Amino acid sequence: MKTQVAIIGGGPSGLLLSQLLHVRGISSVVLERKTKDYVLGRIRAGVLERGLVGLMEEAGCADRMHAEGFTHDGTLVSYGDEIFRIDFSAHTDATVMVYGQTEVTRDLYAAREAAGGHIEYEVENVVIQDAKSDAPFVTYNVHGEARRIDCDFIAGCDGFHGVSRRTIPEDVRKEYEKVYPFGWLGVLSETPPVNDELIYANSPRGFALCSMRNSNLSRYYIQCSTSDNPDDWTDDAFWDELKKRIPKDQADKLVTGPSIEKSIAPLRSFVTEPMQWGRLFLCGDAAHIVPPTGAKGLNTAASDVHYLYNALRDYYEKGADEGVRNYSAKALARVWKAERFSWWFSSLMHRYPDQTEFDLKMQIAELEFLRSNTAAQKAMAENYVGLPY
Ligand code: APR
Ligand code: PHB
Repeated sequence: MKTQVAIIGGGPSGLLLSQLLHVRGISSVVLERKTKDYVLGRIRAGVLERGLVGLMEEAGCADRMHAEGFTHDGTLVSYGDEIFRIDFSAHTDATVMVYGQTEVTRDLYAAREAAGGHIEYEVENVVIQDAKSDAPFVTYNVHGEARRIDCDFIAGCDGFHGVSRRTIPEDVRKEYEKVYPFGWLGVLSETPPVNDELIYANSPRGFALCSMRNSNLSRYYIQCSTSDNPDDWTDDAFWDELKKRIPKDQADKLVTGPSIEKSIAPLRSFVTEPMQWGRLFLCGDAAHIVPPTGAKGLNTAASDVHYLYNALRDYYEKGADEGVRNYSAKALARVWKAERFSWWFSSLMHRYPDQTEFDLKMQIAELEFLRSNTAAQKAMAENYVGLPY
């Protein structure tokens, strides 16, 4: 089989890239290790930057997002019973879209299927071959049959545990990592959100986040120990703990109900450099991970897709290879800024096991500075709505 771009991984990065290329008449094949239902079963964050909203529009996949998503022009930050708002519209010319990542993925699958896009599911033993040559190819197995795709370029969109990053030789690749000493216990419940806007809460008992999917679907998180098991947290224990971590006036109006999903996610910052090796390009979680505070995971994947998509367009439409040559440098410049914001926001909001009394005072001083200083609010708002591509 022959295609222009072989895409490893059918998560949001791979699907978005494939659909955008299709709109420009560039062919691709997506190779996904799991089934579509499995991919759509993963629950992830739900805040989209304007850049991702724009890419979904360009991909022709934005109708349901615009109909069902919610525009947010601010977010709430609390510490103890104090609460303040970061007003995005006052400090930037942008807003964010609250729309679940799972729904983004569902819309992209629907668009790929409607366009007759080629996605192979349940592929095994994907091996990237000759990435340093002008004629790379990918070999893999599907239902016991060995297959091969010849292509011009390979996009490694196969997430943190994928094969693409590890194809880059160890003496070329440098990895940067920080693992946080806590996790997030997340609950999805069919209850109205406690507030119209998200609340990021710093409390002496640890971080909490009140988020949402729609008017009757709420997503809440509390900081927990990495050794906790979600099954050890009853719904009642979760709601009791959440109420203790958000301001009292919010806790008093919190509507609780049975959880329909409960899971624990670890927190990690990770970047690999470079993000390209010959004709192999890494996108999204394959190249970097952020802690979820600020919801930059999918959004940073989207900025990679933006750079790669435009580089490939320049290559095919104008015969220009500058974008392709500079992909890693361009993508990484923005990745590191998203890493910084996610690390900063995480550091500001969580309890750390080794925090001293001084460290705690610094957190509160920084929150009070943010609350009262418009320059600090502007910096936060610009990062939250998404730095320009
Ligand atoms: N071969 C084929 N597919 C693979 C392989 C492999 N060897 N390894 C992994 N995959 C698939 C996974 O099954 C998954 O569906 O690649 C896909 C990667 O998807 P994600 O992990 O969702 O990564 P990405 O598309 O970059 O999305 C980034 O989604 O993962 C979240 O938090 C992340 O929000 C961020 C965004
Ligand atoms: C979510 O809705 O799941 C969510 C929102 C904002 C975050 C993280 C997760 O910062």
